[in-house]
Amino acid sequence: MNVVENAKVTVVGAGSVGTSLAYATLIRGAASEVALYDIAREKVEAEVLDLAHGTQFTGASVSGGADLAVVEGSHVVVITAGAKQQPGQTRLDLAGTNVRILENLLPNLLERAPDAIYVLVTNPVDVMTVAAQRISGLPANRIFGSGTVLDTSRLRWLLAKRAGVSTSSVHAAIVGEHGDTEFALWSQAGIGPVPILDWRGGEPFTPAELEQITDEVRNAAYTVIKGKGATNYAIGLAGARIVEAIVNDERAVLPVSTVLSGIRGLDGIALSLPSIVGGEGAFPIAEAPMSDEEATLLERSADAIRGSLASLGF
Ligand code: 2OP
Repeated sequence: MNVVENAKVTVVGAGSVGTSLAYATLIRGAASEVALYDIAREKVEAEVLDLAHGTQFTGASVSGGADLAVVEGSHVVVITAGAKQQPGQTRLDLAGTNVRILENLLPNLLERAPDAIYVLVTNPVDVMTVAAQRISGLPANRIFGSGTVLDTSRLRWLLAKRAGVSTSSVHAAIVGEHGDTEFALWSQAGIGPVPILDWRGGEPFTPAELEQITDEVRNAAYTVIKGKGATNYAIGLAGARIVEAIVNDERAVLPVSTVLSGIRGLDGIALSLPSIVGGEGAFPIAEAPMSDEEATLLERSADAIRGSLASLGF
């Protein structure tokens, strides 16, 4: 798929994440048509109406409802449906419930949008990505997860604030599980052309401070959920960014979650690595360099996903 003219993006799930992602997609002009699907008819119809009332300002069109026909003709389908983390819950705690929802939902979506690129957002997104790829039988590049794009945005915001520079000049990524075992690729991180530990544009970073920043990113969702019950704006923007890269065939490098086949010895599990995202979906960069310590942390993420998949019988 090259640049899609008149792209239709359907967001499945009209909860806070799905509606924020739909809104962000409209605001960023990432699609000509945004559709919203949910089984809760009254809720989804009201969300569609509320979004449609603003289309004078976006130039896009909005459609949606509780009938699966809503999905027809989609170039991209973003799946946000499922139970959300409650305070004290981990993302992996949601696996059983949300995989069951996916098993019922995905075949119906594929029937109506067989040629779309599918993006999983529902948590635990790495487990959901494996389940979705197995259920659909689609090639791994065409059905992948939002992964640590959101976490990477959190990391870049923290580093930019600390260094007093534009976020766009911070080159750093969170990889691995979108969850408690995620980690930063510090060995590849920098500000402008300067490696992070060589930064002298202000107070130098110390390894201890970088670890503290990683912890703040790793716990960000818990902090927000404790205060407002859910996260939605930043994941909505992260999802819209992924949609944009697909629709515009950008071939942007984003840390999305794909089912790996042999990269660093990892097979059949989904984790986030820097990946090329464009009109054909997502392709992980096989030779993404990392230190020995980071390779060990990646294996720890892999173990967490393997454990969850095993408990689900995958
Ligand atoms: C987040 O990281 C809950 O996965 C969601 O905000």
